Amino acid sequence: MCGIVGYNGSKKAVDILLDGLSRLEYRGYDSAGVAVRDKDKEIQIFKAKGKLENLREKLEGEKLKGTCGIGHTRWATHGEPSETNAHPHVSNDGNVTLVHNGIIENYQELTAKLGRHDYTLYSETDTEVLTNIIDYYYKKYKMGPIDAINRTMVRVRGSYAIAVMFRDYPDEIWVARKDSPMIIGENEDGYYVASDVPAILKYTNKVYYIDNLEAACLKKDKVIFYDLNGDEIKKELKEIKWDVSAAEKEGYEHFMIKEINEQPDVIKKTINSFVREDYIDLSNTGLSDEEIKNFKQIYIVACGSAYHVGVCAQYVLEDLTRIPVRVEIASEFRYRKPILDKDGLVIVISQSGETADSLAALREAKNQGVKTLGIINVVGSSIAREADHVLYTLAGPEIAVATTKAFSTQLIAAYVLAIQMGYVKGKINETVYQELIEEIKTLPEKVQYELDHLTNKIQKLSSKFSHIKDAFYIGRGLDYAISLEGSLKLKEVSYIHSEAYAAGELKHGTISLIEDGTLVIGIATQEEIFEKTISNLVEVKSRGAYVVTVTSEDMDVSKVSNFTLNVPKTLKYFYPSLTVVPLQLIGYYITVSRGLDVDKPRNLAKSVTVE
Ligand code: G6P
Repeated sequence: MCGIVGYNGSKKAVDILLDGLSRLEYRGYDSAGVAVRDKDKEIQIFKAKGKLENLREKLEGEKLKGTCGIGHTRWATHGEPSETNAHPHVSNDGNVTLVHNGIIENYQELTAKLGRHDYTLYSETDTEVLTNIIDYYYKKYKMGPIDAINRTMVRVRGSYAIAVMFRDYPDEIWVARKDSPMIIGENEDGYYVASDVPAILKYTNKVYYIDNLEAACLKKDKVIFYDLNGDEIKKELKEIKWDVSAAEKEGYEHFMIKEINEQPDVIKKTINSFVREDYIDLSNTGLSDEEIKNFKQIYIVACGSAYHVGVCAQYVLEDLTRIPVRVEIASEFRYRKPILDKDGLVIVISQSGETADSLAALREAKNQGVKTLGIINVVGSSIAREADHVLYTLAGPEIAVATTKAFSTQLIAAYVLAIQMGYVKGKINETVYQELIEEIKTLPEKVQYELDHLTNKIQKLSSKFSHIKDAFYIGRGLDYAISLEGSLKLKEVSYIHSEAYAAGELKHGTISLIEDGTLVIGIATQEEIFEKTISNLVEVKSRGAYVVTVTSEDMDVSKVSNFTLNVPKTLKYFYPSLTVVPLQLIGYYITVSRGLDVDKPRNLAKSVTVE
């Protein structure tokens, strides 16, 4: 999705803007632009379609000395990717220059309004409409930037994070937001604004969070915050604990493989944040034993890979707590008028904490008066701030579009929640509780073992299968849940069609697709259903499939497997943490063999902040 960076301080703005935008490339974009101004001079705007490199080329030789500027990477929604549609946009007479993330839903009505006041538009974007609406209120009421911005916020519908420069206010950047992320950073050189932490993490880890329908003015030496009435408000400066190096490649060829290799470390950090010597401590989340005892139903809502964590969590939570669990895709949940149990708990899982559908699902639950809990990676994100309780995952910044380390830490958060809820509800005894805690602590070293022992093997396998057109991932129970993630990892980065199937369901249609050489990846770790999965693998093998089996080191799959990937032994609930690693590596190495851009797959965005 789109990215925003802004800077007002003592340094050359264009360098900071381009550097920040390059760190937002991973979010997905198809054009980019910057607006920079020197004190008392006109605002200079440069835009280019395609990669940031094209914008850099245009800027070569330009002596942009200004120390105040805004920049943007655009992921087209209204209007095709083009230089004209790229941001920044400018109002009719150049009075207002603006970049915008999000969508203005009533842009047609606003376009008509502008038409009645003799405004004309040069682009197809809702952003240009927004720019002119601010200009319209600015000129109509003549009460300055905050008045114009606030009147606009009341008038427009949709989601937005905006950074604005007014011609009459040369040393100021104005920002505002609703339902689209935005932070303001501060250091001794000046003030920064960004839609995403990695954009400015190199310069500062001290940030302010602005809430919905709030605005701010960034001057060179201070920032002033405003509410919707135009009154000044105070904000607390917060420290982001993310390590700067986590947002750099540090010698790895791609972020995806770097992040796969970071998993032992981030899993350990996440475990350590919840697990003490011999008990789980959820006190940071504010979730009390009393509340846990009262929950009669659990709903898990999420999108993409986070939804797959939900599918895994459903099995584990139900088994350990004996509370019924229903897991749903957020975009379905929010529109099906869900009937929620008042004694229920809605768990929203999200790396970014900003996914539009997940946020809407959270709000639906809150509207119905049901308790909510977020499993979130980005501190200060919308879902983290709006949920009643939050379990933070400590994955650090995740840059590759295809999630790996965030997924693994979300699994850990789901496990500790399930174990603690089961224990508090009296569904697991002290012995089982201790056994689970002991075993969860071994996961980081087991994942490290897999990275050390499976990577080469998977590299070889992947080069053999780089040309395939289809792949199938099958399993039962938790192995099915992780098949969903394995299949998504392959298809989203390699563009190979792939499907995940509950192994027992294959016979009801999909098995007709199996022919000589079809790649079938079978996950078989769950002892109670192991034989059943093996039978399903035999069925596909006898129809010509090439069977890769991901299984526990103590299980024998020799009668069916063409190629076996053994993962270390663990307790049944925790296998997803181990089986996902070879599946991530398969997705990564097949994509690399195909020569594709693994970190930035086509059409995808890291954080989907529009419906
Ligand atoms: C996008 C990402 C996925 C992610 C999903 C949900 O599609 O590419 O990796 O799982 O959004 O994102 P969230 O931030 O809510 O976890």
